[in-house]
Amino acid sequence: MAYYFRLGQIPPKRHTQFRQPDGSLYKEELVSSKGFSGIYSNLYHIYNPNEVKSIGTPKPFSWEPAKAHGLNQTHLKTSGVDTTGEDYLSARRMLMMNNDVMMGICSPRQRKMDYYFKNADGDELIYIHDGEGVLYSQFGKLEVKKGDYVVIPRTTIYRFEFAEEGPLRLLVIESHGPIETVKRYRNEVGQLLEHSPYCERDIRPPHELHIEREKGDYLVQIKKQGFLHQYSYGHSPLDIVGWDGYLYPYALSIHDFEPITGRIHQPPPVHQTFQAWGFVICSFVPRLFDYHPLAIPAPYNHSNIDSDEVLYYAEGEFMSRKGIDRGSFTIHMGGLPHGPHPGTVEKSIGAKETHEYAVMLDTHRPLFITTDALEFVDKNYPMSWTE
Ligand SMILES: [Fe+2]
Repeated sequence: MAYYFRLGQIPPKRHTQFRQPDGSLYKEELVSSKGFSGIYSNLYHIYNPNEVKSIGTPKPFSWEPAKAHGLNQTHLKTSGVDTTGEDYLSARRMLMMNNDVMMGICSPRQRKMDYYFKNADGDELIYIHDGEGVLYSQFGKLEVKKGDYVVIPRTTIYRFEFAEEGPLRLLVIESHGPIETVKRYRNEVGQLLEHSPYCERDIRPPHELHIEREKGDYLVQIKKQGFLHQYSYGHSPLDIVGWDGYLYPYALSIHDFEPITGRIHQPPPVHQTFQAWGFVICSFVPRLFDYHPLAIPAPYNHSNIDSDEVLYYAEGEFMSRKGIDRGSFTIHMGGLPHGPHPGTVEKSIGAKETHEYAVMLDTHRPLFITTDALEFVDKNYPMSWTE
């Protein structure tokens, strides 16, 4: 949810006759969330969106929690993940999951998708760690680049075309509930408040329509309840001549997140960027450290008993951690305290600023690593606070 937006041609009044140049009607589609109570958009199709040509055999597409991993502070070293021969969906390695959220990485070798994808299970938040490209969706064209959070509401039909050159690495979050801006930063009509770390100008919706009129064979892979359902159509799902509403994909760059700092150490909620059901997403960005004369910039030990806390290390040196690579995840589980590594507290005193970037996922309910994550586990991490 961001703000009201419109692109292309729409009739002056919704649910009224809106005709194509040949006299036939455009096909209106309401895409609504939370039944009819949440945000929605109205889309105008050239072709009938229900006109299915054939349905193929569904492909299994799910992950299993590794429940035997137990209560362990966990470090996943994923920087060397293999990408050979894989595309946007088959390259997905979901590494953590509970009933509210899944989080993982995706580093596809194939840069251009030759099919369309619809996630019917949840909203997606794709953080572009490395790479750039274009998101083509029913809502139009959206250029994305390194550092962008790309919020893709469920039911959006899309495909990515990433640049062929350079590394490509995505952090993928799938949310059972809608991914939204932070409620306490919104006023009573939804506008982001003055003290919000970002505002509407930082939110980039699709900027122009991308209309595919040609008839042909178009495959849409639809993710629903553990399968990729194979739907073929005789026309492109990107046949939209106009739309308006509040539901659409958008990008927000981590570089446009303005940090909130203080005289003494600020708690994680100042870094909050998005909210959803059962978790929050926070951004750690370059910022000045605490400026009390006796301040300790390193965080204090904490037992966040009702949260499992995941940090994805994107860029820079993390002053409170040792042995962490770019692309590492740490999962600090509720039920155990955690804090800075030995020596890092004293070392942090007097430091003026940090250049780190990290994405944090804090869940309210216990999070499991998946069986896919086991190969990335750093077995020494649970004892890494002991010198
Ligand atoms: Fe923490």
